[in-house]
Amino acid sequence: MINPLRGMKDLMFEDAQRFNHIIDTASRVAQRYGYSYIETPILEETALFKRSVGDSSDIVTKEMYQFEDKGGNDVCMRPEGTAGVVRAFISAKLDRQPVKQKFFYFGPMFRYERPQKGRLREFHQFGCESFGEASVYEDFTIIIMISQIFKELGIGFDLLINSLGCPACMPPYRKNLVSYLNNIKADLCSDCNRRIETNPIRVLDCKNETCQSLLSDSPKLINNLCEECESDFDQLRKLLDEAGIAYTVDTNLVRGLDYYNKTAFEFVSNEIGAQSAIAGGGRYDKLVEFLDGKPTPAVGFAIGIERIMELVKMPESQKEGYYMGAMVPDAVEKILLLAAQKRSSDKVTVEYASKGFKSHMKGADKSHARYAVLIGEDELANGTVWIKDLESKEEKTLPLADI
Ligand code: HAM
Repeated sequence: MINPLRGMKDLMFEDAQRFNHIIDTASRVAQRYGYSYIETPILEETALFKRSVGDSSDIVTKEMYQFEDKGGNDVCMRPEGTAGVVRAFISAKLDRQPVKQKFFYFGPMFRYERPQKGRLREFHQFGCESFGEASVYEDFTIIIMISQIFKELGIGFDLLINSLGCPACMPPYRKNLVSYLNNIKADLCSDCNRRIETNPIRVLDCKNETCQSLLSDSPKLINNLCEECESDFDQLRKLLDEAGIAYTVDTNLVRGLDYYNKTAFEFVSNEIGAQSAIAGGGRYDKLVEFLDGKPTPAVGFAIGIERIMELVKMPESQKEGYYMGAMVPDAVEKILLLAAQKRSSDKVTVEYASKGFKSHMKGADKSHARYAVLIGEDELANGTVWIKDLESKEEKTLPLADI
């Protein structure tokens, strides 16, 4: 028997309904905020992810589904959505137009991680990317939009925010941090030691407890921001306070992708175990330029769909449409034709086998139909149908043509 690959899942029934409900709800909210749908390829040149997500990030060094295709091209299954959307934005020359663009997307992402609860190798994201808006108002608006999506899905969350500075304040801070880290190097884990060389900022979010205790006195970027980054971050906090959105400033929140600057944020849930991040994002003002587009400020986020599946409160399922069945063999084809007609506007479940009344009523109940429609001997003789409203319990006999 062939099973799905480790860390990959099939989706059906109740789970598939939840999945669709999440996508529908998030898409509806995003459209209210002016986002339009974009679909980009799952497979892209490996160079795209190396340059955007970052050569030294875990995603690129350890987790990519990377291979050579039959034409000898070095390609990769996307580990995240932002890089592809930025590439599409530049490919369509939208960076050369003065118009602001906002896109939303959803679909599968691939990371070769160690599977565990909430961590898959193929998982799905719903994401948004906003191009051309440098104002921190857009960062605020995006955070409000995610809160709205979670509110409509009935999901509680904690919000963590941080500022990662900009090319003016980050490099001097990084230098400062590296000299602090070099002093405690001997006591840090091997991952941290490697990162001091490759990506020192990521040392800050090491999950090792010893490392974390050694880092408590490390210099904080938040205390070393340039004037502009500081005032943007203050403004963001002020707006969140005024909007009544609770948040925690987490100075160790650095995110696992290298393209961020200024605002970075994560939405976390304490109800789903260790993999608690349910959405993440931030500003990435240099990425378009870095991928050879014209300088374009940008900000975005992605929600991890599998992580919120079990948190979603599903709306009460409504009884809907018709259940149709025959109680004598000669009526089966009448039922079949009636169903075909009715399906031009309604959901219809049809039973092909001729059955007794009780058995049909059980079938109608299981199908969640609003109406049961049956044809028995009398109805067949008279050209009528028997119909019951399964909510009001009202029943009647109608001419076949009137249903
Ligand atoms: P990310 O934080 O890497 O950001 O992923 C966003 C969300 O995807 C996470 O918060 C988590 O819920 C979910 N996720 C990540 N990895 C897995 C996994 N292995 N299994 C299940 N769920 C997972 C990004 O991907 C950025 N592109 C977000 C962004 C958009 N930033 C700006 N624009």
